[in-house]
Amino acid sequence: MTDPLVVFTPSGKRGRFAVGTPVLTAARQLGVDLDSVCGGRGICSRCQITPGSGEFAKHGVSVTETALSPWNQVEERYRAKRGLIDGRRLGCQALIQSDVVIDVPPESQVHKQIVRKAASDRPIKMDPATRIYLVDVEQPDMHDPTGDFERLSAALTAQWGVFGTLKCDPLLLPKLQTALRKGAWQVAAAVFDDGTDAPLLIGLWPELPTSNLHGMAIDLGSTTIAAHLCDLATGTVVASGGVMNPQIRFGEDLMSRVSYGMMNPGGAEEMTKAVRDRLNALMSDLMAEAQIDPSLIVEITVVCNPVMHHLLLGIDPVELGQAPFALAQSGALRMAARDLNLDALSSTARAYVLPCIAGHVGADAAAVALAEAPDQSEDLVLVVDVGTNAELLLGNRSRVLACSSPTGPAFEGAQISAGQRAAPGAIERVRIDAETGTPRFQVIGSDLWSDDPGFTDSLPTANITGICGSGIIEAVAELRMAGLLDASGLIGPPQAGGGDRIIAEGRTFSYVLHDARETGGPLIAVTQNDIRAIQLAKSALYAGARLLMDEFGTDTVDRVVLAGAFGAHISPLHALVLGMIPDCALENVHGAGNAAGTGARMALCSRAARRQVELLSRQIDKIETAIAPRFQEHFVAASALPHASDPFPLLRA
Ligand code: FES
Repeated sequence: MTDPLVVFTPSGKRGRFAVGTPVLTAARQLGVDLDSVCGGRGICSRCQITPGSGEFAKHGVSVTETALSPWNQVEERYRAKRGLIDGRRLGCQALIQSDVVIDVPPESQVHKQIVRKAASDRPIKMDPATRIYLVDVEQPDMHDPTGDFERLSAALTAQWGVFGTLKCDPLLLPKLQTALRKGAWQVAAAVFDDGTDAPLLIGLWPELPTSNLHGMAIDLGSTTIAAHLCDLATGTVVASGGVMNPQIRFGEDLMSRVSYGMMNPGGAEEMTKAVRDRLNALMSDLMAEAQIDPSLIVEITVVCNPVMHHLLLGIDPVELGQAPFALAQSGALRMAARDLNLDALSSTARAYVLPCIAGHVGADAAAVALAEAPDQSEDLVLVVDVGTNAELLLGNRSRVLACSSPTGPAFEGAQISAGQRAAPGAIERVRIDAETGTPRFQVIGSDLWSDDPGFTDSLPTANITGICGSGIIEAVAELRMAGLLDASGLIGPPQAGGGDRIIAEGRTFSYVLHDARETGGPLIAVTQNDIRAIQLAKSALYAGARLLMDEFGTDTVDRVVLAGAFGAHISPLHALVLGMIPDCALENVHGAGNAAGTGARMALCSRAARRQVELLSRQIDKIETAIAPRFQEHFVAASALPHASDPFPLLRA
């Protein structure tokens, strides 16, 4: 009689197998992507399958009939202890008895794809560098002189195909013999293998841990630090958090931190310690929130700008403060996390710092390039990561260019008279009636507009406290659209419109957005100096983009992507009205959320993403704004709203 035919979906792989063959064995022989950590012992549950009931189950008993599996006791025990979704079976316990169709659900695939929430919908294909294996190790023998580690290594090769000369993290070696004996020679081993060096044993447990291995993706910004705690088996983000970068007390912007290091002996070390301590605290908080044991956090990936990169690594950033802005190392870095004093994690956790593109365009820009993939775009796309320093990428399949531009902190609410960081109580959205000059606004923490009934009661704080970056951008653009601000950026006198909203401040005028002084609250006005600060910031941003367009030989772009946490909150219309970005059809301007953080998460979950970002960082051409003669020319022309000479036909249409 012919052996049963087994067909796996969604791969379509098929083959004939002897009656009684476990589904997991058939999957492995056919190269079907079916996960397993315990090697078929009915412990890990990673091998779950959904047996098809249909056309192939022709005779006798099939894999769909649990009760007839000789292994069903193991499976039933598992089902009772941990639960198994109805209709699912453990692939290692289900035996093939007849022709059958077997579906491998996405969560049972090793290289599962996780869908991203960012603008680009390319999924991340799971392929983490660290995997865990349950392995049976030969007991020592008087006649066999090999060590426990060598026998463990041989078992990993024989049972799991972990090839290459396995090495052991020196901090793990003292714990190895205890774990092997406690586990009665069956242990769970975590092996780090990113394909660049010999595989490395970084974790050993006497039994399979109850949680999956996890990692941290970190976006280390000059103002804020964001971290995502991710499950390395599923790619799920189980906790996210952000804190202020404690280095702010040494200098708001990057160059003042470089200066602090130059002028204060031990200053760079002080900043390094501050950021490492804050990272440890943030990671501890996330682990506590998600109730994940630190020993299971086996990897971190970090993206950051070049100055933060050097300060995290304990490198004095002095060379980044002067031409030719040489990095100590631009390539990706692989090391033990403990080398960065990140001791909140497993003592053997690995760290991967994404590569920098150049002295002013860091690993954060490389991560944005990885996440947004301009190199794979048919359209010419401009990616703008707006922060204290803006990083810009311009390109398509043929070529990608990058530069950074010193926008300063105005876009984050700093240098603005009533400015504040984006926090509850800050005005974040503004509309101004062109007829009456009357404003209405939204405040962070409330969904209502200021002229909606119940607005005051909906506020998150007793007072409206200030205006944040997106609020000031909208306010200035709305003033321009209402005709209360001319193209040069001057607020007109009251008789030009706006009535008593326009107040004199010396020889200039301000526009009153909210006045709560009578009740002890603040006066929130847009002053002439605020507008100048925004003009300087937007001119720097636009000049950077134009410089890239000059180099690319184009006057237009097809798409604009606004990346960064702030980019996600900028209204595309208002950005165009101000001339922050080159003219573009409104429907082709999109926010991409924290693309740098997404790039860090991709590198955490996928070895292929690490190879890709390393390739990209070498391929992207860097344009240095500091020495480009046309930067100043573009900067001056971009001061007008939206621009002194570039026509912005799509915006005007
Ligand atoms: Fe672990 Fe099936 S392979 S439960």
